[in-house]
Amino acid sequence: MEKGAMVFPFPIAVSCLFIIVHIFANSVSGSLVFNFYAASCPTAELIVRNTVSSSSSSDPSIPGKLLRLVFHDCFVEGCDASLMLLGNNTEKSDPANRSVGGFSVIESAKRVLEFLCPGTVSCADIIALAARDAVEIVGGPMIEIPTGRRDGMVSVASNVRPNILDTSFTMDEMINRFSSKGLSLFDLVILSGAHTIGAAHCSSFRDRFQEDSKGKLTLIDKTLDNTYADELMKECPLSASPSVTVNNDPETSMVFDNQYYRNLLTNKGLFQSDSALLSDNRTRKFVEDLANDQEFFFESWGQSFLKLTSIGVKTGDEGEIRSSCASINA
Ligand code: HEM
Repeated sequence: MEKGAMVFPFPIAVSCLFIIVHIFANSVSGSLVFNFYAASCPTAELIVRNTVSSSSSSDPSIPGKLLRLVFHDCFVEGCDASLMLLGNNTEKSDPANRSVGGFSVIESAKRVLEFLCPGTVSCADIIALAARDAVEIVGGPMIEIPTGRRDGMVSVASNVRPNILDTSFTMDEMINRFSSKGLSLFDLVILSGAHTIGAAHCSSFRDRFQEDSKGKLTLIDKTLDNTYADELMKECPLSASPSVTVNNDPETSMVFDNQYYRNLLTNKGLFQSDSALLSDNRTRKFVEDLANDQEFFFESWGQSFLKLTSIGVKTGDEGEIRSSCASINA
């Protein structure tokens, strides 16, 4: 050590270093950090969790809705709550988002957080945290996710279709769309596992089979199991109201588990885009491995979910912290 150098007692030096690292970590622009709200709103994550938990107990369809909400938010303009903005021509008004739900849960957490820590917690973070909690509440893995997302100020309906996926997509189209978001082929297989919970309207898969005048089934999509298609046809007769829904996972629809992949192996993927994961040589082996090993699915889910919820995030002084999730600040 040089002569005259000041010597800090070890514990003080370590504490100073910790404080500096902490302040630095919490102010890094362009990246998310764990416990971003530790100082500014310590109960933020708890409030979101309690809101998701209580709304899910009174309405079991909430976890599925929240999980789809984060996907549709993050794929368009990044994870910035652009999907929540109301208006004539915003993302929410696009038909591809017509059946996306869970907005009221986000708004209700936001109201409590605005009361406790005004202007601090972004709607974008609430969406990501709520989806994370929704998965755990129905039996999925507990994941720590970083926060610090800021809310976007742009939401345009015409941006939705070029960014979201459709069930009619070929595997190449799905791979390309995921890759344009920085997500891999493996992420596609893992994140599709979200279809282990939730429900779908008949119109999302009804074109995979036909019903003749005597109510007899004709399979259009031969990758669909005959008996399963027959059950679907009964749940979704031609006379069914457009509001009828069917569970995505016919076996354990209320549980986040690896049953989705086991369903794929028996040709019981609800959407054409689900079945494609088994038919395609590039993804079949992943499906088999995931069907055999729930731990592998849970670990991989954590990593892919982290990537999904980091897409195009706004941090630092980008965007804003909305006071209400439905509109940008005046
Ligand atoms: C890979 C391409 C994907 C396609 C083509 C697709 C398509 C769909 C469709 C058509 C529905 C039914 C909508 C309805 O009829 O109401 C649905 C539901 C759902 N999707 Fe996907 N999805 C995909 C990926 C994902 C991803 C990556 C996630 C989340 C990580 C996700 C989560 C969900 C959930 C949880 C539901 C149930 C929603 C509810 O219960 O309200 N999907 N998806």
